[in-house]
Amino acid sequence: MNELRELIESEIKRPSVFIDETVLYPEFIPPVIRYRDKQLRQLVELFKPVILKPGSSSVKVLLAGPVGSGKTLTSIVFGREISRVAEGRGIKLRYVHVNCSRSKNLVGIIREAKDSLGLHIPDRGVSSSELLSAFLKLLSRDNTYLILALDEFEYFLNTAPPEDKHAIVRMYDVAQEDVKRVNMIFIVRGSPANVWSKVDSVTGSYLMKNLVSFEPYRASELYTILKDRVDAAFHQGVVGDEVIDYISRMSGYDTGGDGNARKALAVLHAAGKLADKDLAEGRTTRVTIDHVRQVIAQEYPAIVDLLDNLHYLSLHEILVLEAVLRALKDTGLDYVPMSTVEATYNKLCEELGEEPRKHTQLYSYLMDLKQRGIILTRTSLKGRRGRSTYVGFGAAPLEAVLQKLDTMIKQLRVE
Ligand SMILES: Nc1ncnc2c1ncn2[C@@H]1O[C@H](COP(=O)(O)OP(=O)(O)OP(=O)(O)O)[C@@H](O)[C@H]1O
Ligand SMILES: [Mg+2]
Repeated sequence: MNELRELIESEIKRPSVFIDETVLYPEFIPPVIRYRDKQLRQLVELFKPVILKPGSSSVKVLLAGPVGSGKTLTSIVFGREISRVAEGRGIKLRYVHVNCSRSKNLVGIIREAKDSLGLHIPDRGVSSSELLSAFLKLLSRDNTYLILALDEFEYFLNTAPPEDKHAIVRMYDVAQEDVKRVNMIFIVRGSPANVWSKVDSVTGSYLMKNLVSFEPYRASELYTILKDRVDAAFHQGVVGDEVIDYISRMSGYDTGGDGNARKALAVLHAAGKLADKDLAEGRTTRVTIDHVRQVIAQEYPAIVDLLDNLHYLSLHEILVLEAVLRALKDTGLDYVPMSTVEATYNKLCEELGEEPRKHTQLYSYLMDLKQRGIILTRTSLKGRRGRSTYVGFGAAPLEAVLQKLDTMIKQLRVE
């Protein structure tokens, strides 16, 4: 017992490079959001009616942009602030953030919303439309307005039954209520076309008008974002500007990276952990660029094997692989249907002026890539009828491989 207590005591007292590591956690909400003024202003503009004439209309907004571009953060902070402003004016406006990768259908979404609002609605043995109308009744009873943010909405669009989709995107066509209490923020990764193609055309064009786009971050922007966190997370002088600069350039959209703030923060955090270990062993007291390199090397070992494999492939096999990765990147999904891969491949061939191979040939290329362990496949997904093939990729970050593939395609085409 005493030994354990001593262990705990010494661990707590152990010197560390960190003051507060939690500042580097992905879910940490920083006190300032950088470079998202345009998006926040757009949100304010779009949601103004909810404050000025609550209940008069149901505002629906689409947030779209690449991974790690600040969509979730911006939505949460906006929701928090607008609720406060509403409260100051005597309006009960609540913001609820639901992640659709957890709650994939209407019942799941309403269940999460009612729980976070503290509403008691029995949800066993009721249909989704009954649950929805009970939910709307309670909002009305409590005179509450809601901004419901559906994050990673592509999961919902890809898996929810059509009637659930209809109920969510056209709630007040389904529920006849005069006072419209529910407003929506739909958040999707990648291009807004991912939503556009999966909802009816009226909703689609409405959402395109209320689109708030997020661009990938440039290196200089990432620098400031990282610098803010460094100041709060690490002891002074532990992380030099050169380290922040290195990570920013590696991740910056204008410097060859994917502009993903989450990844940049994760690299910084992991490098800090390595430095912390070195500190415990008396080797260094600072985070160095070499720590960053170690993190990258740990993250990428699979890529080495993968790239060795690629040299055996023909141009069209590489184009198929490129199509898989692009489709995954564009949709932000873990697995994409074969039909999406095929469409992306055909588009790619058209861009390059290459004659595309036929469906059966494409299929055998995919099976071959699977055999080599380069891609993953799976037949049918739960909750879907029919047997179709889905393709995924797990070996390395997409962006890094895509860059490599682009160079290989160029080389193969001149040979
Ligand atoms: N402008 C910013 N200022 C400060 N921190 C930011 C900013 N943008 C993003 N971050 C931080 O980067 C991380 C990723 O941001 P966020 O989760 O909002 O990205 P996202 O666009 O929702 O990505 P995904 O599509 O993967 O869900 C978070 O830890 C967030 O706090
Ligand atoms: Mg997000």
